[in-house]
Order: sequence, then structure tokens, then C-alpha cells
Amino acid sequence: MALDIAQFDLNGIGAEFIENPHPTLHALRAQSPVHRNPDGSVYLTRYDDCVKVYQSRDMLSDKTEEFGRKFGQCPLQRHHVTSLVFNDPPYHTAVRKLLASAFTPRKLAEFDPLIEGIVSRRLDRVAEMGEFDMIDDFAKVLPTEIISFMLGIPEDYRARLRGYSLAILGALDPVVSPERIEAGNAAVTEFSELLDDLINHRRNNPEGAKQGEVLEALIFGEHDGRRLTQEELIQNCIFLLNAGHETTTSLVGNSVGVLLDNPDQHRLLLDQPDLIGSAIEEFLRVESPLQIGNRLAGADIELSDCVLPKGTYIHTSIAAANRDPAMFPDPDRVDITRKPNRQIAFITGIHVCLGATLARIEGKIAIGQLVSRFPHLRENGPRQRMPLARFRGFTSLPVRV
Ligand code: HEM
Repeated sequence: MALDIAQFDLNGIGAEFIENPHPTLHALRAQSPVHRNPDGSVYLTRYDDCVKVYQSRDMLSDKTEEFGRKFGQCPLQRHHVTSLVFNDPPYHTAVRKLLASAFTPRKLAEFDPLIEGIVSRRLDRVAEMGEFDMIDDFAKVLPTEIISFMLGIPEDYRARLRGYSLAILGALDPVVSPERIEAGNAAVTEFSELLDDLINHRRNNPEGAKQGEVLEALIFGEHDGRRLTQEELIQNCIFLLNAGHETTTSLVGNSVGVLLDNPDQHRLLLDQPDLIGSAIEEFLRVESPLQIGNRLAGADIELSDCVLPKGTYIHTSIAAANRDPAMFPDPDRVDITRKPNRQIAFITGIHVCLGATLARIEGKIAIGQLVSRFPHLRENGPRQRMPLARFRGFTSLPVRV
């Protein structure tokens, strides 16, 4: 049945779109690339339009108004409006500069042996199991360990982090139930209490150790003579934990899904392991862990064939941009040798993902080791997808080795 694109409403999408958004996204890009939703917001599906929005200094990330409307005064709203990702300069610049000192290529190179060790110990464990869940038993472990190490989260608390993260991020979907908002509020509250203790302890006992180095950079770092307040520290640590582990878990899980669905590409990667770098770029392109972004037009902006006025609320479809045939020939085909591959899973512009290099290192080591260690990896039961449109990943992916 032909899709009625004129009626499409991003705020009314259902399970079919979440399972496979691409038939709809291709139709939107071809027929209505700057699509107006009934609430007046627009949904962009062309690569060039999304990049133009991300690179314009006039497109704003501050969501104080939107989150006020959506959540009212509550912990979730306070969390989001204080995170650097939902702010503009100068606050955004200050937090980003403090964080960036921990993400230099030299610092990240030091993580290689740590990541290699975590991955290989995990693979020993699942090898003994023979049958396991790719998400629970493998994909989620590495990012949680790494980001907890950076922030110095004690081991006893680490198991709770994914639940917090899913509850907080789930409330960001375009369509959100009161139960989901309640779960998000509870997660922010508990997580904040934990971090408050941790920050106070660290403030009084600076250790200067590798474990917790990022937290110390945030506590003691200064930008233009100003330090972050306790509230700013807590909320940006929560953001970092969420940004760092849910998306990377999905990168690993989605990559395995793509390999299982494309045995020819799986074979190719087995035969030529040095393709791992371009393979990760291709997995990020076809199954982007973060599928939708948002900006508020702070000035008029010309896109495709129209001018959007200042004040327009914009949704950028990262998923659609990454399959735009104008940029990627044969866009639905998975090709781990694809070159060039200017995918924008980490976006571009001043908010470009600060953890992109780290995520790439984690993805390369995790998938590289997994593929070479288990050449006969097979699916072992139905997959379960996260019921979200903004974040794409699995909650369960049973496999056997
Ligand atoms: C595959 C994994 C990842 C993906 C796909 C991803 C994607 C993204 C995207 C799309 C944004 C921009 C959001 C926006 O402005 O609309 C972003 C921002 C950010 N990401 Fe990532 N991310 C990943 C992993 C990580 C990791 C591992 C970390 C840190 C440990 C991280 C930290 C951040 C931070 C701090 C920002 C905010 C940057 C800013 O506002 O200036 N991300 N990420």
C-alpha cells in the first residue's frame, strides 16, 4: 500500500515505524523533505538539510521552553535543561571545554589496553556459556565499565546505571506516557543522590588517579574563572553516563544484528579483519544508535526549497540523512568497504559527539574481537527492539557461538 506522506505525523508514529522507519523516511525525503507535522514542527530527511542545520550557529539547542511544556517543573526537566547538550554558548562552551580535556586522542589511546582486557574477559565468559544474550551478556558491559571508570563510579553501583539511563532517555521520545515520565523522574532523583555523595567525597579527597579522572576535571576545572556548581556537576555527569553507554551498547548490538542479517559482509570481515574501521562506520550509518535530533531556529533558515522562519522547531532525521541516495549510492545496501562514508551518526557542528573517538575505539575492539573469536556466531531466538523512535537498539538479541 502506498504511504500517505501528507498525513505523516512524527508525534503519532507507531510500532511499524519503530521496527523499520526507512520506507517512510525514503518517501518523506522524496515527497516532503521539509515535512510539517500538525503541531507546526518540521521533520528533515535530506542529508544536506540536516548538515546545514547542525552547522548553523543560529540553530539553538536550548530546550528550556520545550521541556517546561513537556515535563513541567520536575527532576527530569531540571536534568535536561542543565545538560550541555541541551544548551547553547556560553554555558555549553564552558562545560564542553572542561570535559574535552579528558577526551583528547592521547588520553583515549591510554584506554586501549583497558578496553581490550574487558572485552576479552567478557568473551571468555560467554564462550563458556555457549548461548547468551548479546545485549545483556556482552554489549552493555563494556560502555558501562568504561564510563564508570572515567567518572569513578564504585563497582557496586554499576549494575543500576543502564536502568537509570533507559528510564531517562526513554522520556525523550516524541510520544511519551505519564508512566515513562514518572520512571524518568525516579531515575534522575536516585542517580543524583548517588552522584552527590560521590562528588562530595571526591571534592574532599582528590585522588588524581586515572579512575575518576573525568569527574575530577569537572569538579576542579575552571573556565573563565568559573567552576561548575554542584547541580551542574551532577546533571552533566548523568548526561555523560547516559550519552556514553546507551548509544555504545546499541552500536555493538546493532552491528551484530547487521552482520547476522548480511552473511556476505560477515564473511568479508572474517576474511579481512582490517576492514573493521570502515565496517564500524557502515554499521553507524545503516543503524544509527541516535536517530533523531532537534534544534530551534534562532533565525530564518533556507532549506531545500523553502525558508523556515525563526522560531520553527526542527527534528533532524539522522537515520534518513544517513540513507540519503544523494550522498550514499545504493543507501540500503550494507557495504563494509564503503568509501567515502560521511555518515553523521555523531552529527557535526559545535555539539558533535565528544565521545565519538572513544565509541569508535570501543566498537572496533568489541566487534573485531567478537568476530574473530566466534566465526560461527548464529542467532538463537527472536530479537527484541527498544520501543523507542529516537534511540535505536535491541533490549535482547539471543545468539549462540
Ligand atoms: C555510538 C555511540 C555514540 C553515538 C551514536 C553518539 C551520538 C551523539 C550525538 C548524535 C550527539 C549530538 C546530540 C545533539 O546535539 O543533538 C552526541 C553528543 C554527545 N555525546 Fe555522544 N554518541 C555516542 C557515544 C558517546 C560516548 C561514548 C560519549 C562519552 C563517553 C559521548 C558523549 C557525548 C557528549 C558529551 C555529547 C554532547 C556534546 C555537546 O553537546 O557539545 N557520546 N552524541
